[in-house]
Formats: sequence, C-alpha cells, structure tokens
Amino acid sequence: MMLKSIVGLLCCVQVIYAVRYHRFSGERVTPSELEAYRANNTLAKCTIDVQPCKKSERRRLDGSCNSLKNPSRGTVTVPHHRVLPAAYDNGNQERKSVSGKPLKLPREIRTALLCEGISNNDFLTSAVPGFGIFSFGDVGTVHDIKFFMDNKTDCCTEKGQKDFLCAPNIIPEDDPVHRFSGIRCMNLTRPLDFQYFGCTKDPVPAPIEEATSVYDLSPIYIIEDNVGVPVRTNKGGELVVEVDNGIVWPPSGKGYCPATPAKAGQKCFENYSNALLPVQMFAVWFVRHHNYLAQNLAKVNPQWSDDQIYFTARDINIAYVQEMLVYQFMATLLGKDDLVKSGLASKSKGFRETYDPQAYPQITLEFVIVYRWFHLIQNGVAKMLDGEGNYVKEHRVVNSTFNAGFLGEDDNIVYLTQGLFRQEAARANTGVHPDLAELGLPNLQLATDIITSDLHKNRLFGLRPYVDYVKFCFDEDIESFEDLEKRIPVEKVSILRDLYEDPKDIDLMAGLWTEKINKNAHIPPTLGCLLKDSIHRTIKGDRHWYERSDRPHAFTHAQLQEVRKASLANLLCAVGDKVEKVQKNAFLQISKKNPLVSCDKIPKINFKKWAQKCT
Ligand SMILES: *[C@@H]1O[C@H](CO)[C@@H](O)[C@H](O)[C@H]1NC(C)=O
Ligand SMILES: *[C@@H]1O[C@H](CO)[C@@H](O)[C@H](O)[C@H]1NC(C)=O
Ligand SMILES: *[C@@H]1O[C@H](CO)[C@@H](O)[C@H](O)[C@H]1NC(C)=O
Ligand SMILES: *[C@@H]1O[C@H](CO)[C@@H](O)[C@H](O)[C@H]1NC(C)=O
Ligand SMILES: *[C@@H]1O[C@H](CO)[C@@H](O)[C@H](O)[C@H]1NC(C)=O
Repeated sequence: MMLKSIVGLLCCVQVIYAVRYHRFSGERVTPSELEAYRANNTLAKCTIDVQPCKKSERRRLDGSCNSLKNPSRGTVTVPHHRVLPAAYDNGNQERKSVSGKPLKLPREIRTALLCEGISNNDFLTSAVPGFGIFSFGDVGTVHDIKFFMDNKTDCCTEKGQKDFLCAPNIIPEDDPVHRFSGIRCMNLTRPLDFQYFGCTKDPVPAPIEEATSVYDLSPIYIIEDNVGVPVRTNKGGELVVEVDNGIVWPPSGKGYCPATPAKAGQKCFENYSNALLPVQMFAVWFVRHHNYLAQNLAKVNPQWSDDQIYFTARDINIAYVQEMLVYQFMATLLGKDDLVKSGLASKSKGFRETYDPQAYPQITLEFVIVYRWFHLIQNGVAKMLDGEGNYVKEHRVVNSTFNAGFLGEDDNIVYLTQGLFRQEAARANTGVHPDLAELGLPNLQLATDIITSDLHKNRLFGLRPYVDYVKFCFDEDIESFEDLEKRIPVEKVSILRDLYEDPKDIDLMAGLWTEKINKNAHIPPTLGCLLKDSIHRTIKGDRHWYERSDRPHAFTHAQLQEVRKASLANLLCAVGDKVEKVQKNAFLQISKKNPLVSCDKIPKINFKKWAQKCT
C-alpha cells in the first residue's frame, strides 16, 4: 500500500516535469494543442518531450537542454534560421526572374558555368572535401536523397511531374551529354518541411533538419532520425567495436546500405553513416578515437567508473572535432587572421567566453545549401597509395555511396588513408568531376547530376539571389552586370549575362561557383561569409562549447592546451590506418613549408592532465 503510493507519486512528478515543445516554434505545447496534435495524428512528428534540464548536466546526446531557455532547440527535427527572408514565387513555388519569366533550368546553368573534367588544386588535399563532408554530417542530413530513392520514385514520370513533392531535373534537348543518351529527366524531390507534416500553418516553407544543430559528433554519438545509438561496452568507457584481422571497425549489421552488393562479408556499419566514402572513413576513426581516449584516461585514472571514463572521453572527442573545425579546417580555408577578425576564432590559447544566452543552437538554411560548393573541389577518383606515396590503385568515390563494404575489403582503408592526405583536391571554380556531374548515385540511379541538384535545391529552399548575399556580407550594391566584375571574372560574367536577364536573377549557388577567390583564402568570399555566420551562431549558442571556462565539467586551462593539439595529423597518427608519416597540416599538400614528418614529431595529447589528484 505504502509502496504503491510512493510509486504513484514518482510517476506524477515525472508527468508534471517532462515538458512537450513544438518542434517548429520551440514553444511549449498547451494542453489543448496537445489534444489537437493527438487528434490529427501529428504528435510525434511535430512535438518533442524534453526531460527537465539541469544547469550542471553534461551535453545530452539528443541536443535537448543545450539552451536552458529554449530546451527543445538543438534537438533533431528542427527548422533552420534564415539569414535573409525567403524568396518564393506564389508562396512556395520556385522564384521567378525579375521580369516574371521562369529562370533557366538548373541543368542548363550548371553545364554552362562548370565544365566536366579533371583538375588539381594547387594547395588543398582531398582531406578538405573529406573532412568538410564529415563535419557537415554532424549538423546536416541527406534524408532528401533517401526520400526520392525510397518513397517518391516516380518523379520522372508524367504523373510525378505534376506532383508537388517532385522537383526533377529536366534535361534540355541540346544538353552536351544527354543529347546522346535519351535521358531527359533526373529524379529529385522537394525538401520535406514542417508544412508537409502538418506541423504549422506558417506559409513560408520550413525544411526540416534531422541532425542536432551543434558540433557534437552526431555521426558517432547520435544518428540522424534518432534511429540508433552506438552501443557501449559498459566497461572502461568504451564503445562496442568489431575487430577483423586486427583492424578495428564500428560494428557491422544491417544499417542503411542500399547500394551494397549482396556479397558475403561486406560491411555495412549499423547505426553509423554509410552515406559517403569520406564520412565512412572519418566515422571509423572517430569511433576508434573515442576508445583511444577512454583507454588513455583509464590508464591515468584506474579508479574511474565506466561512466566517468565514457563521458570524459566523449567530451574530449567532441572538443577535439570542434577545435579541428575552427582552428585547422576553417583556418586553412580562410586564414587564421580572418577568423580572428570576424570573431570566429580566438587569438589567444586560453579560455574564451563565447556564450550568448540570447542565442540558441540552430544552423542556417543558407549554410545547408552553400556547403554543397565543396562538391566542386571533390575529386571523383580517390588515389590509393602506399605508405611511401606510391600508386597502388584507384577508386571511384561515388561507387561507395551508401555502400561501406569497399572500405572493409583487403587493405583498402590503408591505401585510401594515404591518398586522403597526399592527393590534391580538385581546383576551385573551374569545373566538376564527371562522376559527380553524371553518375552521382551509381547502382541506384541511371544518372544523377549532384551539382545541378545543388543549384535546384538552392531554389527549392527559397534562397534569395546572389547579389542580396553580397549586400549582406560586404554591404556592396550590385546593380548591373558590370558591377559584378569586381567579384566575378569577366569571362564568367559574360556567361552569366546569357543565362540570366538581370544580375538580381543570379542564383546564390551560381554566384559562388564563379566568384573570384581572395589571395589568402581557398574558398569564395561569400561562401566564407555564410559558413562563418552559421558556425559563429553555433559557437555562441552552444552552452557546452569546449573553449568556455564556465560550462558544466569544463576543461582546466592545462587540459584545454592539450585539446588544442587536435589536428588531422594527430588523429591519423593516433588511430589512422598504418600512418607513420604525415604532414603537420594534412589539409594542405606536402611542401617545403609543410613537409612530411614522422608521427613522433606531431604533438600528442598528454593525458596526465586528466589525472585526478588525491586531496
Ligand atoms: C518513406 O517510406 C518508408 C518505408 O515505407 C516509411 O517508413 C517512411 O515513413 C516514408 N517517409 C515519408 C517521409 O513519407
Ligand atoms: C494539428 O494540430 C496542431 C495543433 O493545433 C496544428 O498546429 C496543426 O496545424 C494541425 N495539423 C493539421 C494537419 O491539421
Ligand atoms: C544499434 O542501435 C540499437 C539501439 O538503438 C541497438 O539495439 C543495436 O544493438 C545497435 N547495433 C549494433 C550493431 O551495435
Ligand atoms: C564502379 O561501379 C561501376 C558500376 O557498378 C563498375 O562498373 C565499376 O567497375 C566501378 N569502378 C570502380 C573503379 O570501382
Ligand atoms: C528515376 O527513378 C526511377 C524509379 O526508381 C528509375 O527507373 C529511373 O531510372 C530514374 N531515373 C534516372 C535518370 O536515373
């Protein structure tokens, strides 16, 4: 009797405290709204239950309680922030030109501005698009691709072309490639938004983000759509792994590998991303890195519990990727001085109090689109090299999309790893690799032009024209095609004149594809501006950002100095596949200034800084 009433009391306490929020607005759901959601069967898709937040708790896997004021912000299935107001025609249709005519087809614009071919970047290695895509996967998702492959497969039929959800890429009759193939249409769908699921009556399309909006190593610790979580060993703070011929892998299982041929022994990493080759590689390394951190923490703190080790290792792993993103990846692309000037990076090595209590974790819609620019510098062919840099064989990168099996065969991962930091990225704003332009999803689609889709998505997401972002970023007015010549080479301006009637018609993506790159940078300035803007929002809005001294379980100053040793070279030396030599900045090619050195010369984390002293 007594026991029963106590249990009853506990239940009630829980019911009172767990709070339900609208995923779209982030506001609390009232009891009458709750009933309405139940009645129209949208409760799970449109709302989220958040357990009470504690100020002192660690980062949650699901991103909730990052903002104490807006506890559901930062979780999966949230809207994005729009840097500039949306531009649609008639509410939710693709924008038209200033004159009212439809814009030219995305495929026509892509083929006119970017030729198909091979090129080499003078500075960057293929680790730049590689890590770039992995890092994007931490805050963004590819669920739109799944949607047209699995659910809406009729977009190129007559019926499909009338379907609002379909947004196929129509191929012009005189297309340089497909005039010979007879292919007139490539599958693509509209992004799924809160309007589609009936979660809001707000008329402006709000695409859904299905990853947590902070850099928290989602590809390792939480999976998009919340479908699976990595499994802990419950001993020594480690994650479950699979050892095969001495190589450590994330556990394999069914996962999402629709392109995996039914070949015995091929791997599909269950609960981890199997989408793109470089993402698969970084996922393998960061899973191993978690266990590497756990084992080293256990050495200096044999008395620690499984939980203590697990949470500390996870915290360091996440801090490590945050440091790598800002101080190595972004610093390589834009220069450290530029980052310091715009407030993205700190000049000093000490703590940085970055938190703005008014901000909350949310990435921008512009970020999701412009990030696709990195497709231009992605090499379609991955060179597979031995430890001395000698050519062994090569691999077409798109062949491994949704098919992680290739990584686990033979010594493929060893050779791909060497290729990652030795091979050049492709040259920026020159052209695009033919595989990305025509064969984006081999084994799954007959033809896919990833780059055309990037431009088309730019329109489907309702982004404003390029010139509006130049105004936002640089306070510069562009009224005529001549005005564009400051930012875009003359020969490209003349192509743009043929494609667009008015400079105010030019798509943002088309502007980024043609923009001149500044002397000390490796990416177009407007792209840099929009990346910095979104990442800066994360830094200000993430209560657990690693550089803060006042976050829960913050690093000591000495520990922070160890985390600042994070680099791709350090990661590869610690957990890479047979890496013995690497250049200090593995995002930049090997050169006199950036020579190949033995791993002994790459600074290592000193775990003694985590040893708990007896008091
Ligand atoms: C797509 O299809 C799968 C499998 O039939 C289903 O579970 C899922 O809900 C569908 N997705 C959408 C957005 O309709
Ligand atoms: C379902 O109910 C919620 C809460 O009232 C409302 O916001 C939403 O628009 C409704 N959805 C549909 C499809 O009627
Ligand atoms: C994947 O995650 C689920 C829990 O979400 C778990 O039950 C399952 O064991 C995991 N699979 C592997 C291979 O770790
Ligand atoms: C890539 O896949 C295609 C089609 O499945 C196949 O014909 C080709 O041999 C593969 N190429 C490489 C380099 O693996
Ligand atoms: C579009 O999808 C349909 C259905 O899956 C498929 O038959 C067709 O080949 C696809 N089109 C292209 C160009 O890949």
